[in-house]
Parts: sequence; structure tokens; C-alpha cells
Amino acid sequence: MTKELVFSGVQPTGNLHLGNYLGAIVNFVKLQNTHHCIYCVVDLHAITVWQDPAELMRNIREVTAAFIASGIDPKKHIVFNQSQVAEHAELAWVFNCVARLGWLNRMTQFKEKAGKDRENASVGLYAYPNLMAADILVYRATHVPVGEDQKQHLELSRDIAQKFNNDFADSIKAHGFAEKFFPQPEPLITGPATRVMSLRDGAKKMSKSDPSDYSRINLSDDADAIAQKVRKAKTDPEPLPSEEEGLKSRPEADNLVGIFAALSGKSKQDVLKEFGGGQFSGFKAALVDLSVHKLGPIGAEMKKLSQDSAYVDSILVDGANRARAIAAETMNAVKDIVGFIRKA
Ligand code: TRP
Repeated sequence: MTKELVFSGVQPTGNLHLGNYLGAIVNFVKLQNTHHCIYCVVDLHAITVWQDPAELMRNIREVTAAFIASGIDPKKHIVFNQSQVAEHAELAWVFNCVARLGWLNRMTQFKEKAGKDRENASVGLYAYPNLMAADILVYRATHVPVGEDQKQHLELSRDIAQKFNNDFADSIKAHGFAEKFFPQPEPLITGPATRVMSLRDGAKKMSKSDPSDYSRINLSDDADAIAQKVRKAKTDPEPLPSEEEGLKSRPEADNLVGIFAALSGKSKQDVLKEFGGGQFSGFKAALVDLSVHKLGPIGAEMKKLSQDSAYVDSILVDGANRARAIAAETMNAVKDIVGFIRKA
């Protein structure tokens, strides 16, 4: 174990799928061997757009179940939902006063999510990256596994950390804290095959909001559903190429080979060594076996956990208690640094 601390968050907005699994969760699982890890179900982020309350609750439990079913150990590491640790929101307010409007105006995700009707977007959606910075920095986490789409937000976190350290340099020193009170959190961008595409259209990302359930493998799918979806996945009429080069301009073939590679821990080139020159039927049969073998148990465990919400909730409460202990220490220091009065 290093002194490095990993933090990441997943939004409980429904339908976790193979893309979330290979793009994020697999990496979360691996990092447990080398780092202390804090994995957060970011419910405060979720409500930046409307969430039906009953569904939100179900989704918080589902993400938690997916973490556990995938092999995240909530005893050795920390798993909790964000709203149980008030320090996230507290530090986010301080960061609202550190970050500049001009910085937030550059965030491309806000522009995409707010769309044309920007006047009608929630203030929370706009300030969302400041909350994300607070999530990370309230633990003074050093490493953040994120996808490409979150890189800009992570840069903003670094800017906020630096501006806080600069603005309050004298006070930080006067209180005897290290000069770099907040670290500069580093992104951990995941390896290849992180982009999983729709099983119906290799040009589109696998998405929870695609109207066709056949476009994705949900983590909660059972073995039969997984097998069905892989069998029905779109392909093209050519046999598989023997070299990776040959996957170019064949998005469906590329996607399925990528999924096989990621699930088996091999490179695409190795997968093609085995299946290149063959018809899709043989490859697909192997992919069905592999997917059912790897993902079937996750779906089964999630189903079991969905019937025991008291157990799932107890994990979140326990994780939140341990997270709060760390977060409170940072927040007390921040209050001293900023010049607030608090109970000693
Ligand atoms: N914004 C991230 C997403 O939508 C989720 C998130 C919230 C997060 N807080 C975080 C990710 C802190 C990493 C670190 O995917």
C-alpha cells in the first residue's frame, strides 16, 4: 500500500452496463491491490437533473450492489453515498467561492447537458464541477480514475486546489499546515477497450438511455439475457481479420473484439490470433461463453443483493462513518484556514 489515495464517484442514474463496468468498475477493482480506495455513489451529483425519489433510492442501492458484486471490498476500502457525508457539500460551498465564473463557463459537459435551454438548467448542474472537486479534495485524494469525459472536470479540481493553496498561503502557514494543503489530484485514465459501443450500432457509445435494451448488456442481466444479447449483436458479413489493422472501418467487429479482449484480459491482437480468418459464428459462441462466465455471476449477485436492501444500506452507513472521519478532519482545517470559528 502506498500513501496514494484513490477516489472516484459513480452517479446513481440507472442502468449500469458493460461500458460502465469495463470503463470504470474493473479498474476500481484492480486499484484495490495497490491503493487505499474510496468509492462514492454520488447522489448529490445525480439531482443536478431531475430524479424521481423512489427511483433514486433504488439506483443508489443498485450502484452499491454493482460495486460489491464486481469485487470491491467495502471492508478493506470505503464505499458510501455522498449525501451521508455533509462535508462534501460544505467544502463545495467554499469552492464555489474559490472557483471563477470564467472557469465554469468553459466546461463542455455543462454546455452539452444544459443544451439550448440553458436558462432552465439547475444552478447545481452549473456548479457540479466544484462539488466534484470537493469530493476528491475533502479526502485530499491523489489519484482519480476517470473516463475521458471527466478529464476537464479533474483539471478544474487541480485549479481549485492550487488557487485555494495560493489564496490562503499565509493562513495555511500560520496554522502550521503543509504549504500544499490540497494535493493536485492526478487522473488515472483507464487502459484500452474502455470505450464500449452499442451492440446495435458500432458508431454509438453503449448507453443507459438507448431505447433498445439489446444495445447494451446491463450489469444486472442474468446469464440468459447476456447470451441472447451477444448472439443478436450486430456484425458484418466478412470473416474476422487476422490483424488489428483490419478492424478499422469495421466498428461492430472492432467493438466485439474489444469486449472479448477486455473480458479475457488479452490484447485485441491476441484475440485475433485466435479467431482471425474465422466466421463470426465461432467467435460469437466463444464470446457468449466468456461473457456469461464473467458477467453472469455479477448479475446473479446483484439480484441477491437487491433482495436485501438492509444489508446494502448497512454497507453505505458503515462506509459513510469511516469517510466522515477523514472528511471532518479536512473540513476543520479548512474552517481554520478560511477564518471561521468552530467548536474546538
Ligand atoms: N462526474 C462524474 C461522472 O459523471 C462522477 C463524479 C462525481 C466523480 N464526483 C467525482 C468522478 C469525483 C471522480 C471523482 O462520471
